[in-house]
Amino acid sequence: MRRTVIAGNWKMNKTNQEAVEMLHQLKKEVAGISEVDIVIGAPFTCLSDAVKETVGSNIKIAAENVYPKSSGAYTGEISPKMLKAIGVEYVILGHSERREYFQESDEFINEKVKAVLAEGMTAILCIGEKLEDREAGKTNMVNETQLRGGLAGITKEEAANIIVAYEPVWAIGTGKTATPELAQETHAKIRKVLVSLFDKVGEEMTIQYGGSMKPENAAELLAQKDIDGGLIGGASLEAKSFAEIVKAGR
Ligand code: 13P
Repeated sequence: MRRTVIAGNWKMNKTNQEAVEMLHQLKKEVAGISEVDIVIGAPFTCLSDAVKETVGSNIKIAAENVYPKSSGAYTGEISPKMLKAIGVEYVILGHSERREYFQESDEFINEKVKAVLAEGMTAILCIGEKLEDREAGKTNMVNETQLRGGLAGITKEEAANIIVAYEPVWAIGTGKTATPELAQETHAKIRKVLVSLFDKVGEEMTIQYGGSMKPENAAELLAQKDIDGGLIGGASLEAKSFAEIVKAGR
């Protein structure tokens, strides 16, 4: 059975104190929900206290990036081992903002995926086309390239610990959500690639939709056959709106 995973991506938002306050509230909002895996992606500075605040609850914590080495002379970077040691269970990788502003390539993202899996954490691999790709009819090609690149050398066993987040770049932070039909069509294509890579495991992998997902459109998106969750930016910053999306995933 595919797990529904609703994950927040706070991006570069919230001080540590704000993070703990939000999570304190969110715990109450989502108490008792077990049908959905609930994840919050937070900045590095919040992770330790975020894990402490949510320990024993149904909320898991994600980092938003990682460097694919376990230690060494990489000034300013954070390793998978360090994240694992404080109780982080998921890592968001290859977000379009990292691809765009930090020139992350599929090869580099692939190294990160492997490094995260090697520590026993779950990788959330983000893919998605830009507006000009969609307009040029290149959506499926772009997604397939990002998928095959990000997942190169991954075994079926490893793939079971990977979530794919499809985030059309034109829908991120713009209020322009993909229609449920359009998102489903693209998710079905992504599913096909995953099945071609991992057979049955590809059928079971969670594919999240991301891009202006909010309480008002979540239920309709999540009702689609191949939309198994959401990766939520703006609407994950407030406990109430994020909890409403979680509830729509039940
Ligand atoms: P928004 O929900 O703010 O559009 O952001 C989506 C996103 O980029 C999540 O990773």
